[in-house]
Amino acid sequence: MAPRLYAHAANRQWSPDTAVDWHTPVDLPDDIEAAVVQVMTYLVENEQAALLVPARFLGRIHPHFREVVQLLAVQVADEARHMEVFTRRALLRSPTLGSSSAGGRASLWTLVHESDFSLASFLLSVLGEGTFLDLLAFLVVHAPDPVTRRVAWLAMQDERRHVLFGVAHLAEQSRVDPGLRDRLRAAVERRHDAPLDTAGLNDDVSDALLVLAAGGWNPTSIASGHRRVQALRQAMDDGRRRRLERLGFPADEAAELSALHTRNFM
Ligand SMILES: [Fe+2]
Ligand SMILES: [Fe+2]
Repeated sequence: MAPRLYAHAANRQWSPDTAVDWHTPVDLPDDIEAAVVQVMTYLVENEQAALLVPARFLGRIHPHFREVVQLLAVQVADEARHMEVFTRRALLRSPTLGSSSAGGRASLWTLVHESDFSLASFLLSVLGEGTFLDLLAFLVVHAPDPVTRRVAWLAMQDERRHVLFGVAHLAEQSRVDPGLRDRLRAAVERRHDAPLDTAGLNDDVSDALLVLAAGGWNPTSIASGHRRVQALRQAMDDGRRRRLERLGFPADEAAELSALHTRNFM
């Protein structure tokens, strides 16, 4: 699995300079542009955490598992590109980034500081990046301009690989070590119980997603935006439950654990 995914990853590297047409005219109403800036800011912050997790473990993997080291190294490079393209889109028309929240940062902190590779890979790739696949797909559909759509699409292609590896690795691990599922469950519960985590998704990000889904602030659009954001949350939950079941969790436990996943998505 790791050699094949590494080869795929190495072949699919793209350059932020040429993979996105940064000269496409982007001229959005101010409130929509501000929503894009806010969502991009949130993504940059999350991509940075996603970069740190595999980077922390690189030096601790046994040299025998060469391809795992190579795969994680490329994953780190993927996240560096995601940080770049989301930052560039945020700053395309705006002189500054959007807001960051203490709750969001505290939640990411609990992810970055998980010191066991399997648990960290579970929280990051299976639950966090898995949830992000739906978020990025949502942005591809509801992006108000081609640059935003393109950067979300590019990141989504890489994230699929990150999720695929995390799920395959942990499905195999839990097959050989039946006790692993108890530790995975405890990791989700521990993270859920960590102080501040319950603060959930930054309100500014929540509003920004709603505006992008609605396409504007008028009441009819906002009502349909609400329905689309609800559908996004449902899709995220369905995806997490499906991946948890792939790791061998029975359906009821998968539903329970999915519900405990951080409301900050990552
Ligand atoms: Fe990423
Ligand atoms: Fe990733």
